[in-house]
Amino acid sequence: MILALINNKGGVGKTTTAVNLAAAYARSGYRTLLADLDPQASASLHLGRRESGPTHIPRLDVCCGFPQNTGDYEHVFLDCPPALSPLTHRALELCDRFLVPLQPQYLAMEGLANLLRFAHNPGRWLGIVLTMVDSRARVTHEIIALLRQRFPDKVFQTEIKNNIRLSEAASFGQSIFEYDGRCPGAKLYAQLKEEVEQKCRVLAV
Ligand SMILES: Nc1ncnc2c1ncn2[C@@H]1O[C@H](COP(=O)(O)OP(=O)(O)OP(=O)(O)O)[C@@H](O)[C@H]1O
Ligand SMILES: [Mg+2]
Repeated sequence: MILALINNKGGVGKTTTAVNLAAAYARSGYRTLLADLDPQASASLHLGRRESGPTHIPRLDVCCGFPQNTGDYEHVFLDCPPALSPLTHRALELCDRFLVPLQPQYLAMEGLANLLRFAHNPGRWLGIVLTMVDSRARVTHEIIALLRQRFPDKVFQTEIKNNIRLSEAASFGQSIFEYDGRCPGAKLYAQLKEEVEQKCRVLAV
C-alpha cells in the first residue's frame, strides 16, 4: 500500500506522522519505505539520514524524492511538502490512499476544504489524523466535535496529543519508538498504526 501524508498547511505534523507510522509498520515486520518528497528532507533527517538507503530501524528504508521502484516494499509512505504543488499532485496520483494530518484549529477547516477540492479523488481519502492536540484548550474539543460531526467516518479515533518527546525524537534522528517507547506519543502512534491498518483492511474487502 502507498499512503501519502498530505496537508498544504505547514507544521501540522505530516513528517512526524509519516516517520512514526512508517517506523511502526517496520517494527511490526513489514518491509517499509519512507519517501521524503519534501526538498527540505525533514523526514530523512528525522531518521538521521541525508541520503536514500536503509535506516537504523530494521526493515525501514528512506528515499529522497519519488521512489524508482516500490516493488520491494509492502508499505510505502510519502511525506509531502506543505503545498498544493505539482509534486503533491503527483503524490496523490501515485498513492493508493492519502491521510490528512490536521491540527484542530478553526483555520484548518478552511484549508481542508481546499485540499479536498485539489485532491478530487475522495475514494482515496483514508481520513484525518488529529495532531498536536492540546486537550486543555476548550476550543480544541469544540473543533474536534465539529470535525467528527462533519466527517463521521473519516476522523481517526486516535488523537495525537501534544507530546514534547515527539519533537525531541526528531532532533535525535530517531523515531519515537527508539527514543522513548513508553511515552504517550509512542503509544498513540502505535495505536494509530493499528487503526490505519484495520481501516485499510476493511476498505480492501
Ligand atoms: N504531537 C506533537 N507534539 C509535540 N510536537 C510535535 C507533535 N507533532 C509534531 N511536533 C513538532 O511540531 C513541528 C512540526 O511538525 P512536522 O515537521 O511533523 O510538521 P510538518 O507538517 O511535516 O511540517 P512542514 O509542513 O514544514 O513539512 C516539529 O518540530 C515537530 O517535532
Ligand atoms: Mg514536513
